[in-house]
Amino acid sequence: MRNFDENTITDAVLERVSGAGDPRIKMISEALVRHLHAFLRETRPSQAEWEQGIAFLTRTGHMCDDKRQEFILLSDALGASMLVDAINNSAGLGETDSTVLGPFYVEGPAEFENGADISNGMDGMPIYVSGMVADLEGKPLAGALVDVWHADDHGYYDVQNFEERGLAGRARLRTDRQGRFSFWSIRPASYPIPHDGPVGDMLKAQGRHPYRPAHVHFMIEAEGKQKLVTHVFAAGDQYLDSDAVFGVKDSIIRPFDEHAPGLAPDGSKRDAPYATLTYDFRLLPAVRAACAD
Ligand code: BEZ
Ligand code: FE
Repeated sequence: MRNFDENTITDAVLERVSGAGDPRIKMISEALVRHLHAFLRETRPSQAEWEQGIAFLTRTGHMCDDKRQEFILLSDALGASMLVDAINNSAGLGETDSTVLGPFYVEGPAEFENGADISNGMDGMPIYVSGMVADLEGKPLAGALVDVWHADDHGYYDVQNFEERGLAGRARLRTDRQGRFSFWSIRPASYPIPHDGPVGDMLKAQGRHPYRPAHVHFMIEAEGKQKLVTHVFAAGDQYLDSDAVFGVKDSIIRPFDEHAPGLAPDGSKRDAPYATLTYDFRLLPAVRAACAD
């Protein structure tokens, strides 16, 4: 086969990939070729534009290392991460909604006792975060692992200026016998996703801002349950309807209530204003999650 033109090239490539032994690889390869060729037929790039596209992806790759994952950011900013999340996590059985993981999770965070201050001295309004982890029937799950991480008062994660402060606003907790967890930290601010690379250039070219509404990340694991990756967003935040990565769902918005100095919910006496945030999480059984696949 030779002399391919605009009318024959797609079928020729489809035919070439149709011999893939693994049916899933065959299906994905064929879909990739069909959609990529359809994209090119629709956009009809000039040679220079195509080279620009390749250069964009090359810069995206060069921007990736163990601290920066520009491809995840690209997937997030194009709504692909949230589409994959929607495809895989929308059983609608009363479980807590999931959302994007984002690039700032650190494997194996330091463990803290419930009620501990995880802020490592960060400036900002103290916040007391508490809640419980339960199954779909509301039965508390004791001993669940609750990983939390959040940005600081200026919208930066610890890993973005690690040399200055070390890890902060990041912890692993374990629920108590009533399925409860709690910690003190500082109220996170809304923040821009990293926008000093190709994804930032793309957002600018598309006339978009890079901001995410203020939130606290949670990753929760309990025996026999499906892992939950989610955030709790601050009610009233100005970016709830324009999150740069499309991650907001109504069910995971809660007030970050502010209080005058006085007695906090954990019985401690606060001599400065502080905030509180409460969320009760519900996890799907692992078996049902596997059946839904
Ligand atoms: C985050 O919430 O940490 C995040 C998510 C997606 C892209 C960038 C940051
Ligand atoms: Fe975040």
